[in-house]
Amino acid sequence: MSDTRRIKIFDTTLRDGEQSPGCSMNLREKMEVAQALVELGVDVIEAGFPIASPGDFESVREIAGAVRGATICGLARCNNADIDRAWEALKLAQQPRIHVFLATSAIHREFKLKMTREEIVERAIAGVKRAVGYCDDVEFSPEDAARTERDFLCQVVEAAITAGATTVNIPDTVGYATPQDYGSVIALLKNRVPNIDKAVISTHCHNDLGLAVANSLAAVENGAGQIECTINGIGERAGNASLEEVVMAMRVRQDFYNCTTGIHTERLVPTSRLLSSITGLQVQRNKAIVGRNAFAHEAGIHQDGMLKERSTYEIMRPEDVGFQKTDLVLGKHSGRAALADRAKALGYQLTGEQLQAVFDDFKKLADKKKDIYDGDIIALIEQRIHGSDQAEWSLVSYEVATGSGHRPRAKLTLRRGGQEHTAEVSDGDGPIDAVFLATEKLTGIKLKCVDYQVRSATLGHDALGEVNLSVEHGGQTFRGRGISTDTVEATVHAILSAANRIAVTAK
Ligand code: KIV
Ligand code: ZN
Repeated sequence: MSDTRRIKIFDTTLRDGEQSPGCSMNLREKMEVAQALVELGVDVIEAGFPIASPGDFESVREIAGAVRGATICGLARCNNADIDRAWEALKLAQQPRIHVFLATSAIHREFKLKMTREEIVERAIAGVKRAVGYCDDVEFSPEDAARTERDFLCQVVEAAITAGATTVNIPDTVGYATPQDYGSVIALLKNRVPNIDKAVISTHCHNDLGLAVANSLAAVENGAGQIECTINGIGERAGNASLEEVVMAMRVRQDFYNCTTGIHTERLVPTSRLLSSITGLQVQRNKAIVGRNAFAHEAGIHQDGMLKERSTYEIMRPEDVGFQKTDLVLGKHSGRAALADRAKALGYQLTGEQLQAVFDDFKKLADKKKDIYDGDIIALIEQRIHGSDQAEWSLVSYEVATGSGHRPRAKLTLRRGGQEHTAEVSDGDGPIDAVFLATEKLTGIKLKCVDYQVRSATLGHDALGEVNLSVEHGGQTFRGRGISTDTVEATVHAILSAANRIAVTAK
């Protein structure tokens, strides 16, 4: 088809996504996600909001300096200090973009900014001009655009383009829009703004009504050329439009949208898993495209149809989005080459050192468990490559006793700097509480548990258990993750990984 349009994918996992509770990432983790986004084929990576904190500034600067193959973008409010700081962070990027935003809706003008319409237009022009002074690629966002009076929105967008904006993004900041309504805003801008052909129209939809993906697609139908989205749909409140869903909708329904993207769709599942393992935020089983059950057919009629002809019940193939065709079983006698092969097929590129460490873990697991499935291998790999940075405290041994009518007892021995320390507690309302108390006693670190989740990596009661938890300490949230065939041991590892993160931050 000759008039097929190429839609740009602007990923904001590291900015809007990272703003969501429990999703904050350290510098190493952000670099890893940025590299994975390049491999996925996104066009733009919004790496952060440089003025927001020294940590944000540093991560945008590092990503801009090291990551090649995508435009690197930094967010700034419409004021000189923000824009200057954004440029300072971005200037080493091969393809930098400054993204300036200013709220335009009546509610934001009156209550948040206390500015008139004229002042807003003036501020937007000044902000875009300052950014253009630094780089050619400038995006302007009228925040809360979806609730902005249409005439005024057209006026601001026109002024921003005249001032030099090359992309105009239309945020549905509070997730208020519906597809027809949002699509009509894009159509209006296309028809009414005289210089609209000088800029790419972008969508940025939040999911408060569960409509972020539908709204983004409606925008594309009406002429938008860029979609802002996040991996797994993470983001403020109910999240942003999910990258995997918008991309696959346009691919599967190319007949309707007549659009392409630069996304290598077979990297969707590995990228989704990477983000889950870094943030500890698992996607629900029935999540479209990347959920564990996204391709699971349960009903007999469906299974029968699938066996006769896949397309009866399948609109895309699992391998198109990065699920493996088979779940090969490895075991005690499988060698390093077989493990390396499986790891590669699952989308992991391990260094020799990482492979050796995962292989050692694999051998230990194979002594406890006969069949080792993909889910087990993924859990082992992720434990190794995304475990805590530096282990101040490591587990030597533990004992937990519990039962009806008894107080739980936990005895814990930890190693720190070559020395072993033991503590025993007979307290708490259960074995997990007792283990928390024993860790607090040994490390001297107060650990307020705010989230605790256990899931099995595969099927069967001998499966590896994976514990993800969050603790609060000194007003900050720290995550911990642990795996073992014994869920209490997995819990101890998860508590220690959170405690180690706290210990590193306190240094
Ligand atoms: O939701 C929003 O309005 C934003 C802007 C900063 C683009 O995230
Ligand atoms: Zn947003």
